[in-house]
Amino acid sequence: MRRVVCPGSFDPVTNGHVDVISRAANLHDEVIVAVLRNPNKSPLFTVEERVELLREATSKLPNVRVERFEGLIVDFCKANDITAIVKGLRAVTDFDYEMQMAQMNYNQAGVETLFVITNPLYAFLSSSLVKDFAKYGGDVSGLVPAAVLDRLTARLAER
Ligand code: PNS
Repeated sequence: MRRVVCPGSFDPVTNGHVDVISRAANLHDEVIVAVLRNPNKSPLFTVEERVELLREATSKLPNVRVERFEGLIVDFCKANDITAIVKGLRAVTDFDYEMQMAQMNYNQAGVETLFVITNPLYAFLSSSLVKDFAKYGGDVSGLVPAAVLDRLTARLAER
């Protein structure tokens, strides 16, 4: 059983995330999407909401499941019998940080990291940009799953 993890904050999940998750799912038996609950950050969506939105966005991918996690991703990997971490690389600007994190995770726990080069359609995309543009009336409808668009519009209207 080749089980891998796609970790992230997913605040909220974008079409770029879904692309990386579905490509990881094509290559492995099972993908766990691990949603980080970081007590030091104040996200727009709670971890429960982020998990729910991801479950909806990946509902057509039978070998994908979504869980939350806290602490180190390598500990989550050990606890769930995970072979490797799968991350998307959008551009060279992602590379330095991702390389350092991959080396640290390998050094600490022997956990490998595999990189998927982002589809150029989504190379510019990030959850932060989506939130910034949506906040000021930008059209992000082609950039996030439909359920996210509804929740994002509603959440921003409450603020
Ligand atoms: O979507 P993000 O915020 O870019 O995701 C970052 C994430 C969750 C993948 C990364 O911060 C992470 O793996 N955090 C878990 C804590 C951890 O293991 N840190 C040590 C990495 S060297």
